[in-house]
Amino acid sequence: MKKTFFLAVALLATAFTSNAADVKANWDQHCAKCHSADGKGQTAMGKKLKAKDYSDAKVQDALKDEELLKAIVEGVKDKETGKGLMRGYGDVFTADENKAFVPFIRAFKK
Ligand code: HEC
Repeated sequence: MKKTFFLAVALLATAFTSNAADVKANWDQHCAKCHSADGKGQTAMGKKLKAKDYSDAKVQDALKDEELLKAIVEGVKDKETGKGLMRGYGDVFTADENKAFVPFIRAFKK
């Protein structure tokens, strides 16, 4: 009984730590080419597509968590031209992986 309990705790702990590492790995691999590793969007593609600076408190305050998640899952289109700015990641990551990006992006705020 005791053994099972400790095993469960150990498994849970691994699950949580690997989650935190995963979101960073996912960001670096899939998002950083536009949003840059530090969330400022200072890459060639980020500048071209006008990615916002997520370290800017004003940018962060103007966005709701639901909007962030919706953008990640469904993608972003230019409101005027309808041109796609960012693909949706609903079919790339699990719902939990997509949700994990929200606090991760919030943490860029200075
Ligand atoms: C091809 C470039 C590109 C890639 C790759 C990309 N994005 Fe974006 N993303 C943009 C652009 C451009 C915008 C619209 C401007 C903005 O909000 O920064 C945007 C908007 C967003 C928004 C909405 C912010 C708002 O203003 O409503 C979130 C959240 C976001 N991206 C997260 C991500 C995550 C997470 C990934 C990786 C899984 C990712 N992006 C990958 C270019 C990209």
